[in-house]
Amino acid sequence: LYAPERVNSKGIDLGDPLSVEALQASLRSVPRDGHVARPLIDGRALNGGTVRELATPQDRRDKVGLAYEATKADVTHAVDAAVKAQPDWDAIGVEARARILQRAADLFEEDRAAMLALCVREAGKTIPAAIAELREAVDFLRYYAAIAPSALGRHALPGPTGETNELSHHGRGVFACISPWNFPLAIFTGQVAAALIAGNAVVAKPAEQTPLIAARAVALLHQAGVPVGALSLLPGDGEQVGAPLVADPRIAGVCFTGSTQVARAINRQLAGRDGAIATLIAETGGLNAMIVDSSALLEQVVGDVLVSAFDSAGQRCSALRMLYVQEDVYESCKDMLTGAMAELTVGDPADLATDCGPVIDDDALKLLELHATRMPTAFASAPINCDATAHGSFFAPRAVAVTGVSDLPGEVFGPFLHVAPYKADRLEGVLDAITATGYGLTLGLQTRIDETVDRVRGHAKVGNFYVNRTVIGAVVGTQPFGGEGLSGTGPKAGGPNYLARFATERTVTINT
Ligand code: NAD
Ligand code: ALA
Repeated sequence: LYAPERVNSKGIDLGDPLSVEALQASLRSVPRDGHVARPLIDGRALNGGTVRELATPQDRRDKVGLAYEATKADVTHAVDAAVKAQPDWDAIGVEARARILQRAADLFEEDRAAMLALCVREAGKTIPAAIAELREAVDFLRYYAAIAPSALGRHALPGPTGETNELSHHGRGVFACISPWNFPLAIFTGQVAAALIAGNAVVAKPAEQTPLIAARAVALLHQAGVPVGALSLLPGDGEQVGAPLVADPRIAGVCFTGSTQVARAINRQLAGRDGAIATLIAETGGLNAMIVDSSALLEQVVGDVLVSAFDSAGQRCSALRMLYVQEDVYESCKDMLTGAMAELTVGDPADLATDCGPVIDDDALKLLELHATRMPTAFASAPINCDATAHGSFFAPRAVAVTGVSDLPGEVFGPFLHVAPYKADRLEGVLDAITATGYGLTLGLQTRIDETVDRVRGHAKVGNFYVNRTVIGAVVGTQPFGGEGLSGTGPKAGGPNYLARFATERTVTINT
């Protein structure tokens, strides 16, 4: 199930000037504007209702394209098409579906320039983050294709003489896949690939901020051989499109990634609606901490903290929000962090030198600015080096001193780090405070003491625990990713148990 023979997608060597030159030339070849996303139902591209103009988060004057958002009637028609297409898609078998996903992975890699350019322009991703995003999408396709035949196959089971028993997996029916803007390609693709390979038809609703990337991914999945009825796309916002989709009693499962608050709303809606009892797979927010004891190597700590807190402008569910530093090294750690943050390059994500790009939109910016007014003055920050700040959604990364994680109002989604000292004999108290938030996504520990690793590991209630490294960037098939408590229902994306939740099991017993 771990598919050890599978190889993860290769990235681009950004240390090699020739590769960088080729990459930049390919990015320049992609049209900057004129991209379009429409409701795509049973292969027909429709006009939808509301039209949303999409501009790049780094400069709102710079347009990327248009989204024609789905109407309520489109939602119903997409589910009609999916209900019709699902039995044949399920019947072709898991091996045939796996071959289609493998082909899609190849097509995604061939389409690299357009995919990367859209990640940078529509979602404001830096180029390295966009490369990682595409790799992760490709890895999801290949990993699920590799493990599906055994994870979802037919298994003969022992029984008395004269009796055969077989356990088999089948699609549940129609899945709604609802995804966030912060991984507009990787999470979108991972959800859709998992639901499809299990034999479900899919109606996909991407985030309203990033439908163009999703439309490109769907076009390639169809080109790879996914029947058009088995995968429809509904651009649009949560209330207008996501909610009616979930409310349709023919939806057998929802795969959702996004905020804890919306996951709760979906859960309530599923519970109150008619039809079959639907499965909900929800991967949600985090309030992630890192603990640094006095044995840790501070140079490494500072590097790992910068990446964990500020990569992708802190807009990762896995990102570091709360840094606890043992009091003996607290002041030196803060000093080193202050110096390192001043060196960060914040600005245009299309510039390879940029460490931290914009946040997704002005709503996200306002929430961060509001949070800043409620927190102490930052002891460290990074300057914004960008001419377009007046027209883009930029928030200068910052670090503030607090007393502990209970000072945070909940998940703060952006480049905002909170730092607190702790006494060596209060480690359990720190872990209790982290657990008391209710979130359980990522936790980091920096120490050179093995017993401390064991203590924290025994105490922590998180999905992904990282020691002496960053807390972001889980790799498909290597670090299955997902949280517990307020952070999600499981199973873990990119792990061996993910696909089974998308399928239903049947046992057939034949007495001969
Ligand atoms: P969000 O919850 O606002 O939106 C997510 C998706 O849900 C969007 O497509 C949105 O349109 C849709 N939606 C909104 N209301 C809906 C409703 N009533 N019914 C159905 N669909 C609805 O989240 P976001 O702002 O797009 O993404 C950021 C959040 O996602 C953060 O909380 C982050 O931690 C979380 N996230 C979690 C993971 C993970 O793996 N745990 C990964 C990425 C992001
Ligand atoms: N899987 C993503 C990470 O690990 C969210 O950062």
